[in-house]
Amino acid sequence: MTVQHDVKDLDLATGGRYRIQWAENEMPVLRAIMERFEKEKPLKGMRVSMCMHVTTETANLVRTLQAGGADIVLCASNPLSTQDDVAAALVSHYEVPVYAIKGEDNATYYDHIKAALDHQGNLIMDDGADLVSTIHKDRRELIEHIVGGTEETTTGVVRLRAMAQDGALTFPMLSINDSNTKHMFDNRYGTGQSTLDGVIRATNILLAGRTLVVAGYGWCSRGIAQRAQGLGANVIVTEIDPLRALEAVMDGFRVMSMEEAARIGDIFITATGNINVLDDRHFPKMKHGAIVANSGHFNVEINLSQLRQMSKGEPRLVRPFVEEYIVNGRAIYVLGEGRLINLAAAEGHPAAVMDMSFANQALGAEYMVKFGKELAPNVYNVPEDIDREIARLKLETMGVQIDKLTNEQQHYMTQWQEGT
Ligand code: ADE
Repeated sequence: MTVQHDVKDLDLATGGRYRIQWAENEMPVLRAIMERFEKEKPLKGMRVSMCMHVTTETANLVRTLQAGGADIVLCASNPLSTQDDVAAALVSHYEVPVYAIKGEDNATYYDHIKAALDHQGNLIMDDGADLVSTIHKDRRELIEHIVGGTEETTTGVVRLRAMAQDGALTFPMLSINDSNTKHMFDNRYGTGQSTLDGVIRATNILLAGRTLVVAGYGWCSRGIAQRAQGLGANVIVTEIDPLRALEAVMDGFRVMSMEEAARIGDIFITATGNINVLDDRHFPKMKHGAIVANSGHFNVEINLSQLRQMSKGEPRLVRPFVEEYIVNGRAIYVLGEGRLINLAAAEGHPAAVMDMSFANQALGAEYMVKFGKELAPNVYNVPEDIDREIARLKLETMGVQIDKLTNEQQHYMTQWQEGT
């Protein structure tokens, strides 16, 4: 009997399964954890409500948690990020109830969140904090069964910290994003590559010689800036933080206000986590043919309702994921409805980098099951020894050797008498 689900088409399952296996080849750290989980069953008896991008990489995380004994339901963490073949494969081949359809409307998105919550998870696995926020707003009866949870992304962690600050959070949450083996690699190299992959797949434009404006210089946006520069774009960075702006300047980027950049950019990519980064004061200044995309978690960084009001007529879909708006007679092209372009028009971060993020998720889940009951409601980091062990394992799987401190060096680092 097929498990309950709401996915696009179960006939896509075979292709999805092959792609899940392809991703697994690039996820050796997670595979090692899966093998240990298989034997030790650290998640036995745990019900997991999971809200994440439904991708081949997430499927391998699901399989790892299942190997650990967890009973899982998965819903999408974004209306446009679902890979329908993966959703089908999880239902048909791995018996996971999945609620996710690429292109679902907002009402369906929240119906799917509801279905994941109806599972009454003891463990919450979130990406953007929509599950945790919905539990606290509308489903408070679920709270007493929850030992804790994990949160994948910067935006979600910002929301959770706001909840904790307000005294609203009622169970402990682990910030996966704050692990070094997550944000230093996933946010920077993952977002860097996959965002440009999304822009290129959507438009097929040449980046060399183009002026590309990146809004923000956090871990994600700096990855985008670096990779765009590598492809020959002239990169401009905009920032609100003086320290980050200074870093961008010294990394060799031009830094200026968005008002100024709006006039000269050919391509704009937002990754700030904030709202209306591209707004009504910017659109009329843009060149004819400007391309606008977002790589932040929510579709709030480009003020699309303003753009729609300012533009002549309805937007025209000129290619998949490319909508043309006309402002003052000039075309502005919005990619992927302003949703995260790396998952809307491409496949998200490559598996090799999600390997570390999801190793943090799997080990974070194990940690929460062991210690969640002892922790006060707050946002916690993944313990440092887990973070370092993931780095060590990743290097090992890459065949990279590193040095060990000699006894003499170890001693030297603990004394203070020796100087000049
Ligand atoms: N976030 C960014 N890329 C992702 C991927 N490939 N799978 C799941 N979540 C992601």
